[in-house]
Amino acid sequence: MNQFGGDWTALKIEILVEYAKAYLTIMKKHIYWRTLYFDGFAGTGFIVRGKAENPELTIGAARRIVEIDKPKSFDGYYFVEKDAKNVKELRKNTQEAFPQKTIHIVEDDCNIKLSDMAEHLKKPKDQRNYDKVLSYIDPCGMQLDWDSLKKLEGVGADVWILVPTGMGVNRLLKKDGEISDKWIDKLERFLGLTEQQIKNFFFREKVELTLFGEETRVTKIEKAVQRAAELYQNRLGDVFEFVTEPFELRNEKNSIMYHLIFVSNNSAALKIATDILNKYKHQ
Ligand SMILES: C[S@@+](CC[C@H](N)C(=O)[O-])C[C@H]1O[C@@H](n2cnc3c(N)ncnc32)[C@H](O)[C@@H]1O
Repeated sequence: MNQFGGDWTALKIEILVEYAKAYLTIMKKHIYWRTLYFDGFAGTGFIVRGKAENPELTIGAARRIVEIDKPKSFDGYYFVEKDAKNVKELRKNTQEAFPQKTIHIVEDDCNIKLSDMAEHLKKPKDQRNYDKVLSYIDPCGMQLDWDSLKKLEGVGADVWILVPTGMGVNRLLKKDGEISDKWIDKLERFLGLTEQQIKNFFFREKVELTLFGEETRVTKIEKAVQRAAELYQNRLGDVFEFVTEPFELRNEKNSIMYHLIFVSNNSAALKIATDILNKYKHQ
């Protein structure tokens, strides 16, 4: 484990902020580009953890990104948050706290707004202010639909994605392959695969000879969490030119909760992201 121990919440934000500063250093040289930040699951700007009587406060990604002034600020920020109460808090912690910055906050579903962004970035150059976007997709579960992400194919966006391999996908993959329709639907939407493709990937049929003859037993593959990350990484490779290795985010019990993956259509961006991930992996 690195210096963050099992504090994967703090770690993912550190990685994002380090990348954002490197990204802004490059963007500072390109004065014609409008540099935007898109956060699809923005939260409130602060993360409260621990017991109610002794809460531990961490500055959330949205606010950490807005706080960056050096090497430069982003030219605009677009925050999406579905929960009305969180939106109110987020306004206070970003828009009202930093009135000099251009911050848009929408109470909506990330999937809808990702599609809107993709449409905008696909417009001819003169209609989109030469926009370049750094995106952060940090859902609490499996709320990101594969079809929404797929719309970003070919656009000028770098994206950090938290993939809920351990606390999402793996939990829905029952050991005996008996998965409810509701969970199958969730897996299909999240992975953009059919039920059969999902079952073929994660399960094996074994024929065993018992006292009553041959019996077929369904078993889940070994290391399903890591295999889910590889699967998602491969799927991302069909949409973006460059994809990092999945980076494990573990909890205090050392279980993998998420894999963090970076995607881009720019090779220099991939190099920067990979260097940052390697640094934190080897600490
Ligand atoms: C893991 S938290 C984000 C934490 C945030 N990145 C931070 O650093 O503070 C996920 C947030 O996404 C919101 N959310 C859940 N489903 C959503 C959806 N479909 N679209 C947009 N926001 C959603 C939740 O209300 C929650 O605030």
